[in-house]
Amino acid sequence: MMGTPAFLRLEDFARDGRLRGQRVFIRADFNVPLAADGGIADDSRIRAALPGIRLCLQSGAAVMLASHLGRPREGALGAQDTLAPVAARLAELLGRPVPLVCDWVGGAFEVAPGDAVLLENCRGNRGEKADDPRLAACIASWIDLYVNDAFGAAHRAECTTHALALAAPAACAGPLMAAELDALGHALAGPARPLVAIVGGAKVSTKLGVLETLADRVDVLVAGGGIANTFLAARGGPVGTSLFEPALLDAAARVEQRLARRGARLWLPEDVVTAGRCAADARGTVRATSAVPPGEMILDVGPASRAALAGVLAAAGTIVWNGPLGVFELAPFAAGTRALAEAVAASPAHSIAGGGDTLAAIAAFGVGERIDYVSTGGGAFLEFLEGRELPAVAALRARALPNSRRIVPVPRFENEPEAA
Ligand code: 3PG
Ligand code: MG
Repeated sequence: MMGTPAFLRLEDFARDGRLRGQRVFIRADFNVPLAADGGIADDSRIRAALPGIRLCLQSGAAVMLASHLGRPREGALGAQDTLAPVAARLAELLGRPVPLVCDWVGGAFEVAPGDAVLLENCRGNRGEKADDPRLAACIASWIDLYVNDAFGAAHRAECTTHALALAAPAACAGPLMAAELDALGHALAGPARPLVAIVGGAKVSTKLGVLETLADRVDVLVAGGGIANTFLAARGGPVGTSLFEPALLDAAARVEQRLARRGARLWLPEDVVTAGRCAADARGTVRATSAVPPGEMILDVGPASRAALAGVLAAAGTIVWNGPLGVFELAPFAAGTRALAEAVAASPAHSIAGGGDTLAAIAAFGVGERIDYVSTGGGAFLEFLEGRELPAVAALRARALPNSRRIVPVPRFENEPEAA
């Protein structure tokens, strides 16, 4: 069987001074969480993009950084949509000015070799969301190399993640994108066994594809949070007023059967922490999972489950972690996810974690340094685990084929403001 074509890497282009004086467009994922005061709540994604940016700067390229932030309306960026805080943070981290450029689609701005600019929120451009090839052709006309280092946005087929990769004179993966694909690909393709996957979070419905794919690959599937509640209910257990999805009971039962057919197993908590309401001042009670009263809800796993799970994780060869076990944002229900984070960190297994809530838990419990690979992807991480081809990666692979051709530029693109 023919192997899947690989993608080109920035390092290949940066050799032998080839980037000197080149106009390099780096699509990064600077979609960072913002605090109430407008500051950056977590700059992990910005720091993760620095190696690619530094490589281009040191290679003497004129560096143009692009990203989306949030989900603004095209042609109508508001004050809350600006990448200005990201430009300021980049300038601090790089120790050099990083000017923010608005209205950049036509390429009418200056950037000297060895300097970097940040292009304002690409989702402000008309045609971005629709993956418009005319917008791509317009941007492609003033760049020499397109670098995709935005793994977090790789599941989106948008102009700067997909069409531009096809239209640019040359296209490659940045070091972050390459590291993510290498790390996640390796964990799924040839994992040290047992492979244990933890899938927590609120809903089976948002992660059904992942659960189904993992059911065919893992040795132990650990369900947590509302997802575990749906599996418990599917087994006919009492879940009281817990968050669960009645419509997904059959789907959950099928996932469990699929695991059982392979001799793999579904891990569910034997004891839980319940309360009458989900609040920071609620009092949790530890109960057997089989004894959840009608008026109470499951908000965390209990101490016996924490210990059992730590044993499963200590014996694992590979751990893939996405999602919390309980409502860890509230102190009375944080113990399960804390114990999980510590057990993943302590395990000799090769550990991989990803997803917004998971990153927040890793930060809250201070275990980031002891997890082997922490992905910057949320939705992209999940879609990768589902086994789906990410559109941005597909485009990079297409450009690595020997007969790769640029998409022919088509009519002039007008980035007009939306009519009032
Ligand atoms: C993310 O935060 O998961 C990525 O940046 C993608 O953002 P989106 O869900 O708004 O496309
Ligand atoms: Mg380890």
